Amino acid sequence: MTPSSSRFRGLRTVTFHVPDLSRAREWYAGTLGVTPYFDEPFYVGFDIGGYELGLVPNADLSTGAGLRDAGGVTAYWGVDDVKAELARLVEHGAILHEEPTDVGGGIRVAAVRDPFGNVLGIIENPGFRGIDPAIPAEVDRYVAQRFGPREEGRGAGVDEAVAAAEEAIRAAGMPEISISTTEGHFLHLLARLVGARRILEIGTLGGVAALWMARALPPAPEGQLVSLEVDPEHAAVARRNLARGGVGDRVEVRVGLALDLLPGVAEEVRQGERPPFDMVFIDADKEPYAEYLDLAIQVTRAGGLIVADNVVWGGRILDEGTTDPSVLGIRRFNEALARDPRVVNAAIQTVGARGHDGMALALVLPREAG
Ligand SMILES: C[S@@+](CC[C@H](N)C(=O)[O-])C[C@H]1O[C@@H](n2cnc3c(N)ncnc32)[C@H](O)[C@@H]1O
Repeated sequence: MTPSSSRFRGLRTVTFHVPDLSRAREWYAGTLGVTPYFDEPFYVGFDIGGYELGLVPNADLSTGAGLRDAGGVTAYWGVDDVKAELARLVEHGAILHEEPTDVGGGIRVAAVRDPFGNVLGIIENPGFRGIDPAIPAEVDRYVAQRFGPREEGRGAGVDEAVAAAEEAIRAAGMPEISISTTEGHFLHLLARLVGARRILEIGTLGGVAALWMARALPPAPEGQLVSLEVDPEHAAVARRNLARGGVGDRVEVRVGLALDLLPGVAEEVRQGERPPFDMVFIDADKEPYAEYLDLAIQVTRAGGLIVADNVVWGGRILDEGTTDPSVLGIRRFNEALARDPRVVNAAIQTVGARGHDGMALALVLPREAG
């Protein structure tokens, strides 16, 4: 598959025609609170969240003088090559409306009228390439085919086991929200980096992440992964997937609400019935993420690692006015992690087959003596 079958790469620019460019420039700069990134007597362009609002002078909307198209507005679609795209549009019956023009800075524009009289602008602008939404998923496939564990005992057969687990999740009608294969590689590697022998997961689903992490563990009884899942059907599918993936011996799926189960797990650690965990993966409901973090820190050894998925949530964490309980839960988690003195933290944005998100990492520091 090519990254995108469309020759249009998404809307880039909307231009307004104005009779007095400097007045319009001041008005938009003041109203939007941004300074133009392109500021010339023939054109003023603002970068508005990755899209462009352009002001074109010498059009008088009251008389229509100098007005090149209806309403004084032209929307420009991003293309890779203005001349080639223009030729293609004309070949399809569009009528040339605005000759290809090099406006400087590597930016080229042109426009046609469609057979119905609408003006269709096209723009080649290296500063506004944006991300073709198909590309991250395609890159994920590229990366997944090349990287990840391959060696006997750790990686042998894991791709097939994960594919079978994903198929079982689909067949059971469960949500297809397991981590991606590239994220699986990442978790596997993190587990090996901390020399994990005991891992705790919050949110099992069909066991895909558990499979990737459990493959990093030695066999039972030394290697143990405890995964908490509220839905008994999810747990049943996960157990089958994990057994088929060759790690049934070292994974225990416990069924119940994580907040009900975690105190029991913490008590087992406190009583010395089980050693503290080397790694925790948080990937369940978002509202109690901050509580999960606190409990995870309590049950993880110094030098152990806590990983939390979905901490960016498509960028919605920036929305301060949100009332979405999941976003509020993640924001609360992020704040709690940011100020927790028991850990060293970091977070990265991720983009790929699962869209735009992020993972937070927390390295547990040695406890203060006394
Ligand atoms: C995103 S999925 C987990 C995906 C899994 N970690 C993977 O990548 O393969 C979230 C899972 O958490 C479970 N879950 C949601 N709320 C929970 C809760 N309060 N306690 C335990 N599990 C919960 C859901 O039923 C679902 O199976």
